[in-house]
Amino acid sequence: MIIVLMGYMGSGKSTIGRHLSEILSYQFQDLDTFIETTVGLSVPDIFKTKGELFFRKKEAECLKILLESEDNLVLALGGGTPCYGTNMKMISDASNVTCFYLKASIPTLVNRLMPEKEIRPLLNQIETKEELAEFIGKHLFERNVFYSQSDVTITTDDKSIKSICES
Ligand code: S3P
Repeated sequence: MIIVLMGYMGSGKSTIGRHLSEILSYQFQDLDTFIETTVGLSVPDIFKTKGELFFRKKEAECLKILLESEDNLVLALGGGTPCYGTNMKMISDASNVTCFYLKASIPTLVNRLMPEKEIRPLLNQIETKEELAEFIGKHLFERNVFYSQSDVTITTDDKSIKSICES
């Protein structure tokens, strides 16, 4: 059984995933970390030295490997993972996968991402909160088509990690 967590950057995929895996006694994998280990570079360095296209190619390859895992697994995706190539189809077609969309509002995402934008390759050119809100709004408009194909949507704005995991 594989529990896939998807959602925008800052939606809590890794934090919630780690807690959920402990509660369920499942393995935990963070796709970005798996890519970093495979390539031998951090995600920002992959974007900087090899470009986004290379990252998306590795992301799809690593997703495929992890979806073939036979362990009980909680898998936290990157924010863009389901939105590229055939990744969403790969996830939906896998018979052993249940997929959750961790949904957060734009103001929540802005507050969480503003202090961290330097370490996120897609956000590091943004300067103000207003610009960030506009960027996220446009991005979510494109990405919701994919996120909404999840089996379950969980709103995370005002809930504790514990209550999210229990729901
Ligand atoms: C990305 C999200 C990041 C990481 C990469 C691209 C995206 O993961 O995969 O920087 O396209 O939204 P997190 O959602 O874990 O920050």
